[in-house]
Amino acid sequence: MSVRLRGRQDLPLVGGTFAYLRDPLTFMRDQAARHGAVSEMDFVGSRWTVLLGPDACGEALRNADKAFASGPGWGRLVGPFFDRGLMLLDFEEHHRHRRLLQAAFTRDRLEGYTAALGPAVARGLDRWDAGADFAVYPALKDLTLDLATQVFMGADDRTDPDELRAVNEAFVACVQAATAVVRLPLPGTRWGRALRGRRLLEDHLGRRLDERRTGGGDDIFSVLCRLSQDGEQLSDADVVNHMIFLLMAAHDTSTITVSTVMQYLGQHPAWQDRLRAEAADLDEQPTLEELDGLVSFDLVLKEALRLVPPVPVLARRTVKDTEVLGVPVPAGRLTAVMIHLQHHDEALWPEPERFDPERFSVDRREDKVHRHAWEPFGGGVHKCLGMFFAGAEVKLILHQLLRRYSWTVPTDYRARLGYASLPVPLDGQPVDLHALERTP
Ligand code: HEM
Repeated sequence: MSVRLRGRQDLPLVGGTFAYLRDPLTFMRDQAARHGAVSEMDFVGSRWTVLLGPDACGEALRNADKAFASGPGWGRLVGPFFDRGLMLLDFEEHHRHRRLLQAAFTRDRLEGYTAALGPAVARGLDRWDAGADFAVYPALKDLTLDLATQVFMGADDRTDPDELRAVNEAFVACVQAATAVVRLPLPGTRWGRALRGRRLLEDHLGRRLDERRTGGGDDIFSVLCRLSQDGEQLSDADVVNHMIFLLMAAHDTSTITVSTVMQYLGQHPAWQDRLRAEAADLDEQPTLEELDGLVSFDLVLKEALRLVPPVPVLARRTVKDTEVLGVPVPAGRLTAVMIHLQHHDEALWPEPERFDPERFSVDRREDKVHRHAWEPFGGGVHKCLGMFFAGAEVKLILHQLLRRYSWTVPTDYRARLGYASLPVPLDGQPVDLHALERTP
């Protein structure tokens, strides 16, 4: 039996686009209430199947009949700029590349990255100028970009600062183009800038492959260059493609997470003090093992990722006819796996809009109520490869922030988030940032 599903299609082609961009959570609630867990909508010019709730989203992510492909779904959104990154590969090829890349994210490797990240965070924070209404989001974005060039790409004091600036600008252009309205390589457009940026990144990384292969460095780029398993290696083009994607996957996601945590800690001083007390027990440059022991940090991080998942919707496209919860989805259909809604579902989380990190504590574990209740890192074979790296990076930044500053945010402040790509605070997220006396 073929069921023709209808979602909100008030306007041809754009359908739910504006409603989603204005307020995604309200849009998702409304869509689920009117049309159920599996429905359709038009979004930026294409017809999408929309999956809402833990059962529907979980089914697509588990992908038991291999009907949902990630590459042709995400490719529609992130354009040609992150082509052939891990998330854009599928099935057998994805499996092969993921096995190889996992070797760059082992515990040993993470310990090395943590040791390099700590001093780089300190250097970045040394440039912060505390004060009232400090726009925390752009400052964090600059910081994580610096971390990316140092710890991912291995830039150091010998790297030409002009070239580094050009690389940073090229990377930012690629990220911004994912939200471009004009998707043509015309002069002066975001799309055109991003295509030039992509070429610059390819050239910059490509020229350094040989030196990184033999140089013995511990940055992610050098590690990728040397990866090999069962005689298999990444080609030069693979290394470049994976690097460009990793930079993107790590950048905004971690920035959004830290800025969300800063907002909630600014509004909940008791939690801020509790984390600061934990941070005070460690040295300025903690090891990975010490970071693992920061229990209150973990609770707050999980709650921030629940309230504002940095990747609220995952994109897929069906490669064959399939069904979700018994509802048919035709081959070739773009599919939006809207994990955001289940993070705010009253049926799963008591008082879902309340900041309550203890809900993740051992005696409560509210996330265990459903296998797919909490999914900020996705699920199934494409689950975030950098999850533990992200945990270490975010904790290192927070650890140093808490030792250097205290901050406040008005309790009625709600960040106005732009959802054109990932959820970024449109006002830069101001906080009143006060420098603390530092022990020499
Ligand atoms: C808080 C920070 C982060 C969040 C919330 C996050 C979230 C996600 C999500 C939801 C996916 C799955 C996408 C999908 O299934 O369509 C994903 C994939 C991925 N992430 Fe992350 N991410 C974060 C940080 C990072 C970092 C720091 C790295 C690298 C160092 C990274 C590398 C990747 C990679 C390589 C994939 C693709 C995995 C695959 O397709 O096999 N992520 N991430």
